Amino acid sequence: MVDIPKESAETTHHPRVAVVWSVLSAEIERFAAGTGARMNIIDVGGGSGGFAVPLAELGHEVTVVEPSANALASLRQRAADAGVTDRVTAVQADADELPDVVEPESADLVLCHSVLEVIDDPDIALDALSTSCAQGGAVSILVGNRIAAVLGKALMGHFSTALDLLVDVDGIIDGKDTIKRRFETATLTALIGASGLVTEQVHGVGVVGDLIPSTAVGVDAGSGEDLREFELATAARIPFRDMATQIHLLARKPIRPRE
Ligand SMILES: C[S@@+](CC[C@H](N)C(=O)[O-])C[C@H]1O[C@@H](n2cnc3c(N)ncnc32)[C@H](O)[C@@H]1O
Repeated sequence: MVDIPKESAETTHHPRVAVVWSVLSAEIERFAAGTGARMNIIDVGGGSGGFAVPLAELGHEVTVVEPSANALASLRQRAADAGVTDRVTAVQADADELPDVVEPESADLVLCHSVLEVIDDPDIALDALSTSCAQGGAVSILVGNRIAAVLGKALMGHFSTALDLLVDVDGIIDGKDTIKRRFETATLTALIGASGLVTEQVHGVGVVGDLIPSTAVGVDAGSGEDLREFELATAARIPFRDMATQIHLLARKPIRPRE
């Protein structure tokens, strides 16, 4: 497990996603030190480009594979506003259609953020992500954490719902949840391993950010710097890591030995 160096933390994004940007920034630096500066990035379920457009602004080529026409329209607008239309490609497709719309082993970095919770079959999606990733490339996964959902309900005094979430096979509240599943660190790393990727780093995203009232952030944390510092300091530390609202995982596709 790699501790995030504070000085490498991305400071222009919301404190809640500082951890993810920090890991991505380190991966970008790693790539620049090796093969070259411009990465080929695929953002699966990239929505309106919250990650894709800033990555394109850094000079990378980003393909967003996303089923929603509305999200793709917002993505195109956001890319145009940022002046990076030439570096952002929008493709309307599902995650499991990835092999039909992108070249196998073509991406230096594949993002799949807040998507595995909503799709029908995470195994198929992860196989598709793994196929699209170049050997030696990285896959960045962000998912909702069951443990945080249980804690959140319990802290509000909804103990019966918390217990339902704790035992439900998919970590959801049957019939009332907007997503299909939540994950835990162990189940996520097992899934990743089954797709042929090797987990290198696991971080918690939103260790307390979603549990505290927004007024509390304003009182003690000024512009959010204190919260950012807290999130970065606790993201890789157990048990904080495993209590966070989301789990972020960076996995690598192994380089096949030459025959
Ligand atoms: C919560 S949003 C996350 C957007 C973006 N990744 C982010 O982090 O801001 C979930 C996205 O997954 C997309 N999505 C839903 N089903 C999908 C599928 N089968 N394959 C790929 N993306 C899907 C949705 O359209 C939506 O844009």
